[in-house]
Amino acid sequence: MGEVVPGEWRICTAPTLPADFAAQWRGRGPSTNIVVDDLPDRDTARVLAGRGVEPLLLPITDSCTNDADDSAGRGEGCPGAVSVIQRLATEALGAPSGSREQLSWFRWITGHQVGFILWQLIAELLADPEHTEPNTQETMADYVNAYSGMLLYAGSCPRDVYHRLIRPGMRAWHEAFSGSWAPDYKLVRKLMRNRHGSRLDAPLRDAVELQQEVHDHVARRLVPDGTSLLQAAHYQTTEQRPLLYMLYDSFFSTLRAPVQRSQVLAQLMRRLAKIILDVRANPLPRPDMAGLSPEVGAPISALGAGLVGVCVRAAVAAGSPASGLAVVAEESRVKAVGPAGRG
Ligand code: HEM
Repeated sequence: MGEVVPGEWRICTAPTLPADFAAQWRGRGPSTNIVVDDLPDRDTARVLAGRGVEPLLLPITDSCTNDADDSAGRGEGCPGAVSVIQRLATEALGAPSGSREQLSWFRWITGHQVGFILWQLIAELLADPEHTEPNTQETMADYVNAYSGMLLYAGSCPRDVYHRLIRPGMRAWHEAFSGSWAPDYKLVRKLMRNRHGSRLDAPLRDAVELQQEVHDHVARRLVPDGTSLLQAAHYQTTEQRPLLYMLYDSFFSTLRAPVQRSQVLAQLMRRLAKIILDVRANPLPRPDMAGLSPEVGAPISALGAGLVGVCVRAAVAAGSPASGLAVVAEESRVKAVGPAGRG
């Protein structure tokens, strides 16, 4: 591997990093780039196997490149990353497999990655001042509901696995690791906190409120006293935002580079399909209703039971060829109720 070039993206395996990598990297200033080496074609399948966590490629800026601009399609600045995404798209899809720890890790990372894409899609609509898209608020409500579904999905691990594996993993990344460091979240924070200037119609307002309830429900289920790593570390997130964003992204296997909207949607579809296969094979635990009022508990319960439908709605809203996703949903349903199924 040659000299590390700022602004260049390549996917890399650790052993190929040059001995003087750290020296080359120092003094480059703040950067959101991750430098890696090209994977030979034959290794993609072996390394990623289509069943585990996959790297996610998202735009550096606040929105994806329009598909009409083919510079991102050529992958300027990120040839390695784009070609890995393209190669991945040809890999067979499979439900995540492995131990309960592996499944929990897959859900934690992939659920978050889908959340990032949904935030990007919401931001795309918020950024359209004319609201030229028809039914903008309804579409946003579909995305927000899908995000709530991802909160349940990501947070569905057994509590002991969260405390043995996931939380220590985040703490090892940074002692104060926090969801508030998610780079894409800043685009939608006002909306998600229900502080958006313009009036929200009922479906969107309900979706935003449900999302807040679901976050708090997941937080309480996994950490009964609700203390986050940020709070426990008494850390003030006042500066170095770009560095915190980079730390956050790297934990969730997320790279930033020029990328077309269609490539982002392809990554969304692939993940949603895997999630559908997963929840059909391994249904989410029923939400613990203890301490929840029926007004809060019933919609959370319905969301968990209807996760597949929520995923399909979001894909349709994004303009994806959702028929493929519906087929995955349908086929997995058949498998789940068939003689060999586990459902
Ligand atoms: C299921 C996965 C989760 C996701 C996607 C998620 C996402 C987020 C996001 C985006 C924020 C920023 C909110 C804002 O600034 O408006 C946040 C903040 C927060 N989350 Fe979560 N969260 C998750 C799980 C948890 C869990 C398990 C806890 C349990 C302690 C938790 C506790 C908190 C707290 C206390 C905050 C306030 C900021 C902080 O102290 O870090 N969250 N979360």
